[in-house]
Amino acid sequence: MRVAVVGGTGPFGRALATRLREAGYDVVIGSRDAARAGALAEKIGVEGATNADAARTADLIVLATKADAALETARGLKEQIGSTPVLSVASELHFAPSGVLPTAEGTSLAERLQAELDAPVAAGLHSLAASTLGKDRPPDEDALVCGDDPDGKALALELAERITAGRAYDAGPLASARALEGLTAVIVNLNKRYKGHAGISIAGLP
Ligand SMILES: NC(=O)c1ccc[n+]([C@@H]2O[C@H](COP(=O)([O-])OP(=O)(O)OC[C@H]3O[C@@H](n4cnc5c(N)ncnc54)[C@H](OP(=O)(O)O)[C@@H]3O)[C@@H](O)[C@H]2O)c1
Repeated sequence: MRVAVVGGTGPFGRALATRLREAGYDVVIGSRDAARAGALAEKIGVEGATNADAARTADLIVLATKADAALETARGLKEQIGSTPVLSVASELHFAPSGVLPTAEGTSLAERLQAELDAPVAAGLHSLAASTLGKDRPPDEDALVCGDDPDGKALALELAERITAGRAYDAGPLASARALEGLTAVIVNLNKRYKGHAGISIAGLP
């Protein structure tokens, strides 16, 4: 299974690519700049390419650009993405004097991505911090994934299961991304208040 991490040169993409490589995936990091992707890829033992070339050759595409750039990037890669399943990890956050706020948009970024693409979009991994994911072993946390397309969601769930020491849970339809993306604001506020790296563990499920 070949996974492209589009926008993979940031802290999250780097940590995810490393975890995926350790889990046995064939990984390519994408960037707007092939040389930047190549330099990072060499350091962590994966491939590097432009976002377009990375997306064109993948079985699953993780869209890991800066959140503000996710929609524009997906629009620009529509042809290369084609019908390949996409996993959106982005959360739009607003920094206010009172704390970090979730997006004021009525729908999630993932749903807006779905409206732009022919490919099925799943959303997940929002609660896994790059700093935790980038440690030398999989984080002891659960991961939540949602989506409307069963096959695309199954690929995303399998990926989530293999990069955490906890479990990956199916959190329902893509509209659940409104809550999952909003949860990021809660986690960042917790991190600021308690000076840590919060993650989630789900209780009460068999
Ligand atoms: N950081 C975390 O702990 C964390 C946790 C869970 C989910 N996430 C999500 O994961 C994503 C990546 O997080 P991050 O912290 O790694 O982000 P980041 O460092 O801000 O950005 C990641 C990459 O996005 C690309 N990028 C920046 N501006 C762009 C633009 N205008 N157009 C296209 N690409 C652009 C850059 O790659 P190039 O310059 O190489 O193209 C950059 O290295 C975000 O959507 C975030 O919400 C992050």
